[in-house]
Amino acid sequence: MNRILSGIQPTAAMHLGNYLGAVRNWVGLQDSFETLYCVVDLHALTLPQNPAELRENSRTLAATLMAAGIDPRRSILFVQSSVPAHSELAWLFSCLTPLGWLNRMTQFKEKAGKHKEQAVLGLYSYPVLMAADILIYRATHVPVGEDQKQHLELTREIAGAFNYRYGREYFPLPEPQIFGSATRVMSLRDGTKKMSKSDSSDFSRINMTDDADTIALKIRKAKTDPLPLPAAPEDLEARPEADNLVHIYAALTHKPVAEVLAEFNEAPFSTFKSALTDIAVTALAPIAEEMRRLLADPGYVDGVLHEGGGKARAIADATLREVKEIMGILTPAGP
Ligand code: AMP
Ligand code: TRP
Repeated sequence: MNRILSGIQPTAAMHLGNYLGAVRNWVGLQDSFETLYCVVDLHALTLPQNPAELRENSRTLAATLMAAGIDPRRSILFVQSSVPAHSELAWLFSCLTPLGWLNRMTQFKEKAGKHKEQAVLGLYSYPVLMAADILIYRATHVPVGEDQKQHLELTREIAGAFNYRYGREYFPLPEPQIFGSATRVMSLRDGTKKMSKSDSSDFSRINMTDDADTIALKIRKAKTDPLPLPAAPEDLEARPEADNLVHIYAALTHKPVAEVLAEFNEAPFSTFKSALTDIAVTALAPIAEEMRRLLADPGYVDGVLHEGGGKARAIADATLREVKEIMGILTPAGP
């Protein structure tokens, strides 16, 4: 059976990179797979969070996912921490994961920066929890943006290590699904850095909650170079900011990059930016509006997450029971 799991952190509002790189693909996959999507609040705790904001962000993110098209009748939508089996499996996996594998993770190096000694254990072991998120459901496919590729490779290695150690093909080796023309959306201020929730400048990203005026302003101020749009996709290669905006346009309109360039026929960036603004506002405004409508009734959103948590626990607890059995953990029977 094919089963999908993916997750997104409730650290701040969802941005265009999350949407084009991941969430929009999640929506399409609901028709052909059994799908589970989770708000990974335990991953968010790897960096300091304000408790009230974390709780609020988790609900807002769930509402944004629903507004973007995640349908609770077709997908299990839940909060990671409401399924304790994720954390328990992460411990069991941590006993199978060599430090050498974790030392290769580039995201840890980036996030820990120069202060590696002060970085918390959770930031370092984060990919083991991510492997547990996926494998507790024995998911076969994981739709993510390009930046998560290395974590998915580690997940496959951990699944393989378990299967090898216990001599059976218990866990599938999950396939990353990285697709669309914007698998890595870059910052609007610096075309060499990915668009991220943690960038200190709000002008670096378009949030799914931004109104039309804010989107227009951010696109107008987005960094570009003095040249007009090129005629051929190859000529974007050495121009990261131009390349990024064209890829965003291509992704939003579902057109190949070459077709977008042909359409603009070497126009100046001012012309292109105003077209991009229109496209972005048209795509995002209905999502923001639906999100606000959903959040007017927080009880409804919480109800969806509660129900999703129950369905997720039923699957996860069954896996955990089998894993414990395989690993030799005694589950004492009652009187
Ligand atoms: P995160 O915000 O780190 O929890 O990411 C949630 C999902 O969005 C993951 O699948 C990421 O790979 C994807 N994602 C995050 N940032 C970007 C980006 N700048 N471009 C494309 N995908 C992204
Ligand atoms: N690490 C992912 C990110 O930062 C989020 C995540 C956590 C995830 N668990 C996951 C993604 C499981 C896919 C599957 O983007």
